Amino acid sequence: MIDRLFREAPGTAPLEEAEHFFRKEYLPEATSTNDLLKARAAETADENILLRTGFQSAGRGRMGRVWIMPPGAQLAMSFLLRPRLAPDQLPALTLAFGLAAAEALWALSGADIRIKWPNDLLAGGRKLAGILLEYVPSEKDGVPDAVVAGIGVNIEKSAYPEEIKDRAVSLEECAGRVFDPADLADRIASRFALRYQTFLTEGFAPMKDAYNALLAGTGASVEVSEADGSVRKVREIGADEQGRLRVLTEEGREEALFGGEISLHGIYGKE
Ligand code: BTN
Repeated sequence: MIDRLFREAPGTAPLEEAEHFFRKEYLPEATSTNDLLKARAAETADENILLRTGFQSAGRGRMGRVWIMPPGAQLAMSFLLRPRLAPDQLPALTLAFGLAAAEALWALSGADIRIKWPNDLLAGGRKLAGILLEYVPSEKDGVPDAVVAGIGVNIEKSAYPEEIKDRAVSLEECAGRVFDPADLADRIASRFALRYQTFLTEGFAPMKDAYNALLAGTGASVEVSEADGSVRKVREIGADEQGRLRVLTEEGREEALFGGEISLHGIYGKE
């Protein structure tokens, strides 16, 4: 399957170019790579930067959650981008990033990786990686707005606390070996460089089918938690060209979701 996805993947740049598309930086310790790049986005005109760290003391997850990172057990990194897109195109960029990360991790580890919309990466129904994409409006004349896209990947089993072991998983458990974080970072960056350049010229449409092929829960009844705390059951159809999730409500109406959190309860019995 992954071979098929790679053959179909439109790439505007050859692999050699993709490897050097992002300028790579490393910090042994950081507060949060997302926070550091957001500050840099406001102060400079830098773009296409990849910042990786060996330890994050104040990592953040989606919905204001804390992202805990034991030293060495995780990959933590963020990209600083200036995609010159309208804000309504950004949700689809999140999906493009999730797709690239899933493809890279699958190719490297052989694990059957799925995406929980919008971009949690799952293996065996448990969370392997999380993505946090943030919009940073420019404060400087002539400098385009920025996007900071961060990803945390569980490399070793010790990457997550024992209490969430039924919801989390590591690459070590999936593939039976430990991966080098720098190597993982390079693979994700190269894959993302290809998807990102396609996204800038053609949008999400050319990668929608590849994304939907990896989407967990297609055709199943899933729960959507809305921002106001309400929860409802819907049937998942798939992502559309804007990166929204198309669902069928219990009343038989088709809707496209922009936000909210999906629970796949009952599909894997986990996430
Ligand atoms: C989630 O699933 O809630 C998203 C987690 C995102 C974590 C990464 S780790 C690197 C980057 N820096 C952060 O503070 N968060 C992201």
